[in-house]
Amino acid sequence: MIYLDNAATSFPKPEPVYRTLDAFARTALANPGRSSHRMAKEAERAVDQARNAFNRFFGGAGPERWIFTLNGTDALNMAIKGVVGPGDHVITTDLEHNSVSRPLRALEKAGVITLTRVESEAGYVAPEAIRAALTPRTRLIAMTHAANALGTVQPIGEIGALARDADALMLVDAAQTAGVVEIDLKALPVDLLAFPGHKGLYGPTGTGCLYVGPRAVLRCWREGGTGGDSKSEVQPEELPYRLEGGTPNVLGIAGLAAGLAWVAERGAETNRVHEVGLLQRVVDWVDGSGDGWRVAGRWDPATHVGALSLIPPGLGEVPDLPQELATILDTSFEIAVRPGLHCAPYIHRRLGTFPDGTIRISPGPFNTIDEIEALVQALEQITATIA
Ligand code: ALA
Repeated sequence: MIYLDNAATSFPKPEPVYRTLDAFARTALANPGRSSHRMAKEAERAVDQARNAFNRFFGGAGPERWIFTLNGTDALNMAIKGVVGPGDHVITTDLEHNSVSRPLRALEKAGVITLTRVESEAGYVAPEAIRAALTPRTRLIAMTHAANALGTVQPIGEIGALARDADALMLVDAAQTAGVVEIDLKALPVDLLAFPGHKGLYGPTGTGCLYVGPRAVLRCWREGGTGGDSKSEVQPEELPYRLEGGTPNVLGIAGLAAGLAWVAERGAETNRVHEVGLLQRVVDWVDGSGDGWRVAGRWDPATHVGALSLIPPGLGEVPDLPQELATILDTSFEIAVRPGLHCAPYIHRRLGTFPDGTIRISPGPFNTIDEIEALVQALEQITATIA
């Protein structure tokens, strides 16, 4: 199998992640902070070390500000529903994944917030467009760091500065960038950073993080046991416990910490540069083939992560074409890609690729140029089936 679906979840994981998961499950998988025996303390130490590692890697304002979540969606819901209230105005973009779009739309439909969805141009949001959408009631700007459907990296620094000027909070969905694009929270005006652990950080599924910066105060997302202060009738005020009721996925967190350590050793940009280099070959083929394939959005290797959406010739004429072609890639060529809307319907509407979507190619650090050549050859062959 040539796995080119790393934007959905990375595969394979680096060897240290597998080794850590195996060893931890056999020796330390107790309930962290809930008991006083050695194995519980060992589990708690692993969670604390992971928080510290995240804080160091991203330049956060304290390890307690790193909340472990179930996934990126959990982190985003926690952030959005934790900060907005009746009458607030929220700005988002048409690039968003449903994990941002749906909670915001639900709040809008319920009459809790007003919402402005700023339009992108060829896959990029202009800070000016965000500035124009600000109102005195704007409480939150919620947007992606890189569009999951397209791979285009957004100017979150400039937009975060606008949020600061407007006394609003900046929430960034870093699902496609955490671990592959440098994020320094000491320099970036970002208040809330949400991401899954199982993509560019190489942890297992069932992991994610929310960073809560000093300007953000969140309502509880779920109440429950935290291990400490059991006599209190309500959730403790202090982070991370305020937002971490219930037994954490300590095994997943241990694996995630191993993934983060692997990334930290290589440096955040290393994987991005490798993946974009592989995608350049696909873009060159698209530009030179004359077969009618197109790249969705603008291709700029400097502002792209390792995800590229291709529009096949005949889109809209042949029913469900991207799905059909992805099935052929899987069954006849053993190549895994993600077709369709990528849970990001607004950008596909904007680009004219709704409702069938595109074929997204997302290589990872272990893919080789030979595998990309095999993809290009497969695309050439399947183009003949469309005609
Ligand atoms: N959000 C993931 C993706 O983009 C699943 O494929």
